[in-house]
Amino acid sequence: MEYTDKTMEHFMCPQNVGSMPDADARGAYGDPSCGDSLMMFLKVDNNTIKEIRYLVFGCCAAIASASMTSVLAKGKSLEEAETISDGDVLTALGGLPSMKIHCSNIGVSALRSVIKKYKIQIKE
Ligand code: FES
Repeated sequence: MEYTDKTMEHFMCPQNVGSMPDADARGAYGDPSCGDSLMMFLKVDNNTIKEIRYLVFGCCAAIASASMTSVLAKGKSLEEAETISDGDVLTALGGLPSMKIHCSNIGVSALRSVIKKYKIQIKE
């Protein structure tokens, strides 16, 4: 399988990419098997993800997966966003080449990390 048009679209023009200096929370995930990494930032209002940004260092599939994760998460409640799976990202991208399926996990893992950090912060 080659990269789908949807994957190429998100690789060539990643959605919501960038830093967020005034983020309510930030979280990171690095894939130890390949060294790719992702930092994700959230703005949360009334338990809803109002803004999401990320900086990604990785392969085409990692960039497209981070972009799709951000699209799926924006506007969702924190609890809804926590249920987004790498399978959801894969489906939304129309699949990935078999060697790249693990890359769909990078955005979801960073998202769960940043939500977890946000929830810890608001309890403190
Ligand atoms: Fe590591 Fe794609 S090769 S996330």
